[in-house]
Amino acid sequence: MVKCGYGLLITVAELLLFGVLGLCLFWIIHYGGGVAWTQDVSKQFNLHYVLMIGGFIFFNGQAILAYRCFSCCKKIYTKVVHSALFVLAISSVTVGLVAAIQANENSTHFYSLHSWIGLATIGMFALQFLVGFVSFLVLLCCENATAKFRQRLLPTHITFGLIIFGMAIATCLTGLMQTARHRLSGEDNKENYKDLSEQALVINVLGVSILVLGVLITFLIRNNSFKRYATLTIN
Ligand code: HEM
Repeated sequence: MVKCGYGLLITVAELLLFGVLGLCLFWIIHYGGGVAWTQDVSKQFNLHYVLMIGGFIFFNGQAILAYRCFSCCKKIYTKVVHSALFVLAISSVTVGLVAAIQANENSTHFYSLHSWIGLATIGMFALQFLVGFVSFLVLLCCENATAKFRQRLLPTHITFGLIIFGMAIATCLTGLMQTARHRLSGEDNKENYKDLSEQALVINVLGVSILVLGVLITFLIRNNSFKRYATLTIN
């Protein structure tokens, strides 16, 4: 019964992860005209949206779930997949951040609640990556001497991973809200967010799906009865 529920929740989480990325791409391409670099501010912002959702939600979410999905493989392989997904996430987030800062050149930088939470999230994410990389990969060179330290660090690493994922969700939701208010302002023949147009619906479904992912992934990682099917150890 527990195994069935676990399999079902993992499947739903994976469907949501791919669904969120797909819906974001659909929104950007169908309503936003795609992405660009410097030639078009609006399309450069589109790049920010897709790279941030791709990096912080899709790749970060997959990295968090790696130990649950690949529980059959040797731990070192899972660890490499976990780290590789984080490298993809951090690369995507870095380019996404540069895109937003450049696109925002003619406006004020770092004034919004979104940018404040975003900067805090990026800072904590970078720190978590650095500490995790050094502690769980580099320190493997003296495996026996550092085993106790790594075992002690693991619960903090897992908790901070989930906290950062929650902060990334808050950043995405404030970003989506800000974009919806701006692009669907109802002024100059623009659609009005209040009319709940097709695009507004896509943005709302995207936001709710990201939120549901946060609940589901936290539940999957924190639920002790699932640990039998995917054991979290440091080796
Ligand atoms: C976790 C993911 C995200 C992070 C860490 C993040 C971070 C940031 C940062 C630091 C800025 C400030 C750039 C500047 O002031 O020059 C910014 C700007 C912006 N972002 Fe994001 N962002 C994320 C996701 C999103 C998403 C999903 C959207 C909308 C779909 C979005 C929409 C915007 C908009 C409209 C701006 C320009 C206005 C402002 O500075 O608030 N962001 N973002």
